[in-house]
Amino acid sequence: MSANKPIRLGVNIDHVATIRNARGGPHPDPVRAAHLVASAGADGITAHLREDRRHIRDDDMRRLKAEIGLPLNFEMAATAEMLQLCIDVAPHACCLVPENRNERTTEGGLNVAGQHHYLAPFIRELSEANIRVSLFVDPEAEQIEAAKGAGASVIEIHTGAYYEATAATEPALYKAELEKIRSAATLADKLGLEVHAGHGLTFLNVQPVAAIPEIVELNIGHFLVGEAVFMGLAGSVKEMRRLMQDARTGGLY
Ligand code: PXP
Repeated sequence: MSANKPIRLGVNIDHVATIRNARGGPHPDPVRAAHLVASAGADGITAHLREDRRHIRDDDMRRLKAEIGLPLNFEMAATAEMLQLCIDVAPHACCLVPENRNERTTEGGLNVAGQHHYLAPFIRELSEANIRVSLFVDPEAEQIEAAKGAGASVIEIHTGAYYEATAATEPALYKAELEKIRSAATLADKLGLEVHAGHGLTFLNVQPVAAIPEIVELNIGHFLVGEAVFMGLAGSVKEMRRLMQDARTGGLY
């Protein structure tokens, strides 16, 4: 029964590195941020090593793995270079995402259905290295079934369209996008996949997603690091954790 599963918060610290890289020096250090996030109650650390290294760098990944006690979720594109790096770092988990050099952030989910022959052996190699593999997918039945068929044990539902709908304050659109996430979570759970979600989650829109009982992990980055400017990183993480917990246990929202 999925109703009582606890929900975890994975904090994506990429944008601490974005600020660091703006000046080219070592400050602010994303690993220091990860320590702080851990002591504020996060359940995991997520970092995306992009092909262009625009924020997180190879050495950040190694240091996160060596220094942080929380599970590390290594986000990456499914390329041969990243496969080798990920196996070397040996994180707890790997989340495969599509990557496009010209995008500001990960704009859509993976086309798993169209890449079975490429992704299945890729996933097998990571799994054989004891790295749990998650696929970042849009809330579409075809992609979720394909993720199961390709051998992933986890899917992360891309909540970007839901974010756009909540930001546009279009209630009909917002409800429709939330419903897509709910149906996707139900299907994935039925198929035996662990269900995560993320992208564009904020204090204002997180609770309806956190209340979906099949979803056991949310990965949140940009908003938490941005909000840290106003309330500190520990403060933003604690508040997000509280909102998620309240939603999970039936609090009002
Ligand atoms: N999950 C995945 C797979 C992502 O690619 C991202 C964005 O890097 C996030 C979660 C976090 O999204 P946001 O930074 O909008 O909270």
